[in-house]
Amino acid sequence: MAKKLFIKTYGCQMNVYDSARMVELLAPLGYAPTDEAGEADMVILNTCHIREKASEKVFSELGRLRAERRERGAENVIVAVAGCVAQAEGAEIIRRAPDVDIVLGPQTYHRLPEMVARATRAHAAKQFRPDLPRGAGLLDTEFPAESKFDFLTVTNESPVSAFLAIQEGCDKFCTFCVVPYTRGAEFSRPVARVIDEARALVAAGAREITLLGQNVNAYHGEAPNGSGDGSTWSLSRLIRELADRIPDLARIRYTTSHPRDMDDDLIAAHGDVPQLMPFLHLPVQSGADRVLEAMNRQHGVDLYRRIVDKLRAARPDLAFSSDFIVGFPGESAKDFAATMALVNEIEFAMAYSFKYSPRPGTPASSMELQVPEAEQDARLQELQAVLNAQQQAFNRAAVGRVLPVLLEKAGRRDGQLVGKSPHAQAVHVDAGREQIGTVIETRITDLGRFSLRGEIETPPANFRPTEAHLMEASA
Ligand code: SAH
Ligand code: SF4
Ligand code: F3S
Repeated sequence: MAKKLFIKTYGCQMNVYDSARMVELLAPLGYAPTDEAGEADMVILNTCHIREKASEKVFSELGRLRAERRERGAENVIVAVAGCVAQAEGAEIIRRAPDVDIVLGPQTYHRLPEMVARATRAHAAKQFRPDLPRGAGLLDTEFPAESKFDFLTVTNESPVSAFLAIQEGCDKFCTFCVVPYTRGAEFSRPVARVIDEARALVAAGAREITLLGQNVNAYHGEAPNGSGDGSTWSLSRLIRELADRIPDLARIRYTTSHPRDMDDDLIAAHGDVPQLMPFLHLPVQSGADRVLEAMNRQHGVDLYRRIVDKLRAARPDLAFSSDFIVGFPGESAKDFAATMALVNEIEFAMAYSFKYSPRPGTPASSMELQVPEAEQDARLQELQAVLNAQQQAFNRAAVGRVLPVLLEKAGRRDGQLVGKSPHAQAVHVDAGREQIGTVIETRITDLGRFSLRGEIETPPANFRPTEAHLMEASA
């Protein structure tokens, strides 16, 4: 009988991608994924270290799992902690949670099968040596010379909307951020590997691919055809190639971008590549130059404005999302007002906003003038009120319109599917499961709390498809 693997994923899409790869790596060992921690033979927490509460959540989840194992008398469950908390606090995890078997970082998870075999042997040995600690205590948080990507298997199952990691790590060192330390130096996968994986995903059922990277628009992957002369391709060139070469790939997205790396050809691609969806996550963090400077973002507010203008000129219906940090050390009321002004000027379709959270070892954590928590709270509330209103307004503007919706999966109700609009809005429609994976013209009828509702539009008798329709429908 297959053993059961439960993975809980925290943090960003890169972790979602990594979790899917870990499932694939463990399949040859007889592990099949489950959604129930209570029936698992192995549990992996794929963790995030980006803000303070993120790592505390991991320790409380380990405690909960411990109690659950005791209750069902399943002491031999293998427990692994992966991801960015594992990378940053590996030894501390083993000290604080001695029942953990495996701690491994984002760049070593290809070694998971070997570590699971060792943990299994350690559990077997424990039968005869009850004095041994419960956990195997295996730690691997190196940044190995070999790339994990070379050890991953070709996927044969894919969701309709799939992630594909093309770039990882970061050399930007924003003063608040742990990512350069947890993910390591910037690395781009070769173009040929990316295209192979995209083809495999599409053959396995993907219709939309989101290209992932901590700094995805800094992508500079080795050119195909092994010219070996060190020449590289940019993200825009890669996107154009994917769009040209993979006919069944209906939609392309990419995340997360840094404003500094938004080059002119990438901006132009938003105008000329119909498969590239008109929605861009472009974090600005703050609307004040002196805060951006202290954050080491390496650009000012004006650059952000200029890029948004150019992108809107290339693709007028392009919608933006962003990340914001409020209460960065030294952020004055005036600086915060500048952030509010920028938000009011740009108008975001959605955004994530956070209180600054000091991360040990990052330069900002030892800066003077940390903003008091009450002030951070007040600013966050003020910002989120405006961002929520902008998101609501953006969604409301879709009501009554007909949008091409990519139907992705079953909805909560029978006979209902959930899909995505070009602007990445979730849309619920009544449709049969056989429609999953198709792009369908949908009239948006009303607004839910977090999503839109729509009805499939029957084309009128005199309907003549435009080129854009054919592109979406070639699906
Ligand atoms: N470039 C990255 C950003 C990763 S972190 C990417 O590919 O996604 C995601 C967001 O978390 C950042 O944009 C920032 O807004 C927020 N963040 C990062 N470190 C933070 C900290 N110490 N406190 C609060 N928010 C933080
Ligand atoms: Fe972190 Fe800045 Fe790198 Fe993004 S660009 S991962 S915020 S250091
Ligand atoms: Fe979190 Fe690591 Fe992603 S810290 S946001 S899981 S890169």
